[in-house]
Amino acid sequence: MAALPDDSAPSPSKHKPVLLRETIQQLDLSSNLTVVDGTVGAGGHSQQIIKQIGDKGQLIGLDRDPMMLQFASQKLPQDNVTLKHSSYADLPEVLKQLHLSGVDRILVDLGLSSDQLEHAERGFGFSTSGRLDMRFDESHGESASELINTASKAELIQIFEDYGEEKFSTSITDAIIKRRTQSPIETVQDLNQIVESAIPETVLRQSEKHPATRVYQALRIAVNNELQHVQRAITQTFPDCLNLNGILAVITFHSLEDRLVKRAFQDQSQWENLTTKPITPRPNEQKMNPRSRSAKLRAAKLISKNPQN
Ligand SMILES: C[S@@+](CC[C@H](N)C(=O)[O-])C[C@H]1O[C@@H](n2cnc3c(N)ncnc32)[C@H](O)[C@@H]1O
Repeated sequence: MAALPDDSAPSPSKHKPVLLRETIQQLDLSSNLTVVDGTVGAGGHSQQIIKQIGDKGQLIGLDRDPMMLQFASQKLPQDNVTLKHSSYADLPEVLKQLHLSGVDRILVDLGLSSDQLEHAERGFGFSTSGRLDMRFDESHGESASELINTASKAELIQIFEDYGEEKFSTSITDAIIKRRTQSPIETVQDLNQIVESAIPETVLRQSEKHPATRVYQALRIAVNNELQHVQRAITQTFPDCLNLNGILAVITFHSLEDRLVKRAFQDQSQWENLTTKPITPRPNEQKMNPRSRSAKLRAAKLISKNPQN
């Protein structure tokens, strides 16, 4: 087995892979394995995976965002790497195309990469200046701007409550509806102004996070149907695609996702839980990469293809 990566290793992409060393350890890699990186992003985790599985192993990297696949292809030029534009939830179709019946390891590092967040035109972050899009795959579905300009009051409140756990969901929704009757909400600045106008001054002053953090998270989850992809993958796709005794590792960034993973791994007729408590970044990683603070890593071994319930 090759040496484990050092947390401080320099990375050419702006995205710093989170919990890198811990993830590689949980995946228990060796040469010859077939590994799926279901959220290959800029290839940070994959670069280390390929070192561990060597040239006899095979790596399949998936991403819903074609821009991220371009980043990944620069970092992963090896012949035994296949990159595909796909959701991890559609892994069975990818394996069919590659004539593979199963894989030995699957990693998914959920959420979005720093490269996406900083790309102003994608509208993922409140500190950019672009139009409000937020789709991982811009060729499909409704953008965040289309969603907030057309969704009903009840739908918007539910999105902000369910996906953002936002306390001011009703007043933010009222402000959105008032504003969109005057002119469409199209940019990040439009949304930031609306959110700031709907939250009480005292709360704005005391808030450590940007007041729109939860609203952006909620819209991104809704626009990309993120929880539906996680739920389908963890309960169906991954157990179907992993070989027996294969390992699944999942990195989540908020409690909604982590809850789905935790619940799935509690099924002891299907999974041997390798992390009874989630692994979180060490203080040094949190300091070097503040975006890692909310990360949680869970891993489990598939012990049955036919669970009892
Ligand atoms: C946190 S980044 C991954 C970073 C990567 N591990 C690295 O080290 O560079 C998450 C990536 O997942 C992608 N993504 C989100 N949902 C996805 C899905 N359902 N299927 C495939 N990729 C997805 C995003 O486009 C983004 O590139």
